[in-house]
Amino acid sequence: MGNLIIKNAYWLTPQGSFDQGSILISEGKIVSLNKTQIKLADAEVHDASGYMILPGAIDPHVHFREPGQKYKEGIDNGSKAALAGGVTTVIDMPNNNPPCSTLRRIMQKKKLFSHKSHVNWGVMLHTSSRIEKNLADKIISAKVYMAKSSRLPAITDVKTIIRIMRNFPVISFHAEDESLLDISPQRSPLHHENRPRQAVISALNKIEQAFNSLPEKDRPRIVICHMNTTEEMAWIKKKKTEGWDIFGETCPHYLFFTQDDYIAGGAVFQVNPPIRTREDQKALHRSLGDGTIDFIGTDHAPHASAEKASAKPPSGIASIEWLLPQILYLIDKNIINWKKFHELTVANAARCYGIALRNGIIEGNYADLVFVKRVEQKDKIRKIQSKTGINLYEKFDFKWRVCRTFVNGILKYDGKKYFEKGKGKEVK
Ligand code: DOR
Ligand code: ZN
Repeated sequence: MGNLIIKNAYWLTPQGSFDQGSILISEGKIVSLNKTQIKLADAEVHDASGYMILPGAIDPHVHFREPGQKYKEGIDNGSKAALAGGVTTVIDMPNNNPPCSTLRRIMQKKKLFSHKSHVNWGVMLHTSSRIEKNLADKIISAKVYMAKSSRLPAITDVKTIIRIMRNFPVISFHAEDESLLDISPQRSPLHHENRPRQAVISALNKIEQAFNSLPEKDRPRIVICHMNTTEEMAWIKKKKTEGWDIFGETCPHYLFFTQDDYIAGGAVFQVNPPIRTREDQKALHRSLGDGTIDFIGTDHAPHASAEKASAKPPSGIASIEWLLPQILYLIDKNIINWKKFHELTVANAARCYGIALRNGIIEGNYADLVFVKRVEQKDKIRKIQSKTGINLYEKFDFKWRVCRTFVNGILKYDGKKYFEKGKGKEVK
């Protein structure tokens, strides 16, 4: 791997300002950020005139479905969709078929990712009541599904949560208490009515009970995944003031849609937890600005279109290939500023999950970079990369286009084509 120079560069700093000059990359890392233009005889040169350079996003929540359900997406295809969305690092969820719940399955998945992924990656463990020791350092985080999401049962009892908390330093929760979901034959045809917000509140109460029962030294870092109710935002805000080591994630579909979209559009908007009201959405927008929400994960959860059209559609929305245009749209709408953009897309997820050298455009960090461009007319319809073939965001006037994506200093996507050279690295 040789040297690379990006000339006429204009890049986002971690402070939310922009610097310009040239970026020198060697062995996949940013060696220097120069205010002046530099020249080097043997370097590959990229001219960034007309583009803005952003750090490649960390998407801490994807379901690439491999092993087990490659027909829905797969690592090769999913990581290409990530490149198109300006995402250079993903954390893959463990609710595979079979679930990624043992050391052996974790190692199998890692092997697949190291051979196939075009972006950097890490994996989570699917927890169960059977706890395997010596696993914590092989994973990014342990995931607790309080509502069933694979063939393993949901974890809803406080005692098991306490045992898991004692064994893992970082735990990500799917916080919906399954015992409060309506699965009766007389249930409502509306998804959000069967999965009421009381299920979320009950899950948070159990997490709190478990956490408070532990001595301070045994308390793990907690992540609340895909938050979207006013109640959980108020709760996490309070826990932060109480000094908990806790992070909150939300997803694009909660920022862009309400349950009215689900009522009008049906199963393509069906997701767990469900999309909720306009009031919840407004609270979520405010929470992005005030530090209540720490990062945005796509919860990229692809299903085949025939499955979505069936009488019993599975839950999940695929959106990784529009991630940066979506978040940049939030800047255009004054919902967040550039500093917040930096925190939400890279800095906070890197800190939370211990992802080293990928928290922005900083000397010494890996060169995970995205060239974007603001365009006045709507992006031409690009072929959808995800196997779902569905773009729920078509109706939004996204003004930003991902034009080039570099992973570890290697050009992997140029706005049209993907390049095979260079695989993603496991993040540490
Ligand atoms: O809607 C969802 N789909 N929520 C989840 O928690 C899992 C995901 C999936 O794997 O399809
Ligand atoms: Zn998920």
